[in-house]
Amino acid sequence: MKNPFKFDIEVAGDFFCGRRTEIKELVEHIRDETNIIMFAKRRIGKSSLLKEVFLNHLDANILHTHIDIYSVSNTRELYQRLLRGIEESLVGYETNLNKLSRLVENIQNYFNHAKVSIIVSGKPQLKIESSEKDYFLAIESLFQSYFEFLRAHNLQAVIAIDEFQKIVSLGDAQKIEELLRTIVNKRENSAFIFTGSKRNILLGMFNDSARAFFKLGTEFELPPISKNEFFVWIKKRFSKKTVSLEKAAFEHLYLLADGETRFIQQVCYELFRNCEPKQTIDQAFMAEMIKRVITKKTYNAQLLNRYTTAQQNGLKLIAITDGYNLYSKPLLEKAQLTKATLQSAVRSLLKEGIIFKERSGQLVFEDVEFKLWLRFDSTE
Ligand SMILES: Nc1ncnc2c1ncn2[C@@H]1O[C@H](COP(=O)(O)OP(=O)(O)OP(=O)(O)O)[C@@H](O)[C@H]1O
Ligand SMILES: [Mg+2]
Repeated sequence: MKNPFKFDIEVAGDFFCGRRTEIKELVEHIRDETNIIMFAKRRIGKSSLLKEVFLNHLDANILHTHIDIYSVSNTRELYQRLLRGIEESLVGYETNLNKLSRLVENIQNYFNHAKVSIIVSGKPQLKIESSEKDYFLAIESLFQSYFEFLRAHNLQAVIAIDEFQKIVSLGDAQKIEELLRTIVNKRENSAFIFTGSKRNILLGMFNDSARAFFKLGTEFELPPISKNEFFVWIKKRFSKKTVSLEKAAFEHLYLLADGETRFIQQVCYELFRNCEPKQTIDQAFMAEMIKRVITKKTYNAQLLNRYTTAQQNGLKLIAITDGYNLYSKPLLEKAQLTKATLQSAVRSLLKEGIIFKERSGQLVFEDVEFKLWLRFDSTE
């Protein structure tokens, strides 16, 4: 029997759990051509949600593309990535070659500055080639042509740019931000979705009045999958192997994982592999499996070594206390830190983004596995 849990790939369809209200809200914004800025903690399921919405919930007249710019390092590569996304959205699910060649002729009428063709080896691919060497101009005319095409055909589009924070690390960051702002403002028949995993940088881009992307869309905070919904979904999958999952066991996992979807899925994946039919997963077995999964992750030791001693002690304190009441006397004494040293360590860790502060004041790890590893390591 195939393992029904996945943790290392974006999921949709059968492998996708819940999120009915989020799907509905996203689809409404997309239909209304409203831009969306999706904030969430890491590995909570931003990219999977986009995949699920695009594959299974959009009207047929809405073209879509999911562009991940994580590996882009200059304007040329950004142009190429955006271009590939637009090409994919134009082809959509069309595989009929006759229809495709008519589509190519049609598209060519709008993309005057480029040559449009089709590659037929394997899955048919559309190719738009421009000789423009100024990549800022190339990006601008790409979108201009695309919007004209949409308008003329009464089509809509949604363009998701994932790992959007990458923009700020590019050489011409400010110029690119300004260019994209202009494009986004002049858009027709379309909505953009901006999302990414570096929450501090994204918040900085969209919530700073001095920046080009200030208030350029509606904010959409993606919470963890709700505990009950996740439990019911997971329990049902275990029952296929006649394995029974106790609620308290799942709650223990959900709490330790801060609701992080990926980690919960990974632990379930391992449980499914290791359980015999008719077995029951109780809290003790769950705790053992979590520990097993975490202690296997040896790169955490290397990660810790990148920090100064004060920062390392600070990280351990945050892990043990779950980010509350760090500065109590007994804790400071135990960690052999003065309050000032710890405060300065926390500041630098926040700046780096390895931890962040919730509205409640709680300090939270960006990477829940690192938190758990530190916790197990400190109590060894
Ligand atoms: N709704 C869901 N149902 C089931 N599994 C999910 C769901 N959403 C995410 N996952 C699981 O969690 C993992 C992380 O999800 P995903 O990559 O979509 O998150 P992300 O927020 O984009 O992460 P990152 O911050 O690394 O970009 C996926 O590999 C998938 O296995
Ligand atoms: Mg992602």
